[in-house]
Amino acid sequence: MARFEWKADLATGDEVVDSQHRQLIEFANRFLEAAQHGREKAILQNSFEMLERYTHEHFRDEERLFRKIGSRRLDDQRTQHAQMRNELKAIRSLWMSNFGFVNEVPRALEAWLETRLLPHFFEHDRRAFEDRRASPPPRK
Ligand SMILES: [Fe+2]
Ligand SMILES: [Fe+2]
Repeated sequence: MARFEWKADLATGDEVVDSQHRQLIEFANRFLEAAQHGREKAILQNSFEMLERYTHEHFRDEERLFRKIGSRRLDDQRTQHAQMRNELKAIRSLWMSNFGFVNEVPRALEAWLETRLLPHFFEHDRRAFEDRRASPPPRK
């Protein structure tokens, strides 16, 4: 199973957001490694919950920040974050529907990282900060 890496081309230029993105990738890797090593279900669930909780915190912090800097992408971000929260919840629910831990959970999470979260960092989060570079809000 591949380890996900934060790369410089994902950088938004905002220190807090970039460090949260790194932390998200780290939580995801920890879960995937635990799954790969066949850790017990309680440990895996705990690890998945940490990832999910941190994702929610990150989305909330980002939306606050985009509001503060007056990013025109705020609505787009809110919509995308809501979709991704639902997708994570759907991945978690694979547990319930399959009587315990199944390979589908790590597989679905890997696909979600590749096709949803990392592209979101790259395309949407970076773009939301372009507005700040282009037109700084007036000082109060
Ligand atoms: Fe983000
Ligand atoms: Fe975002």
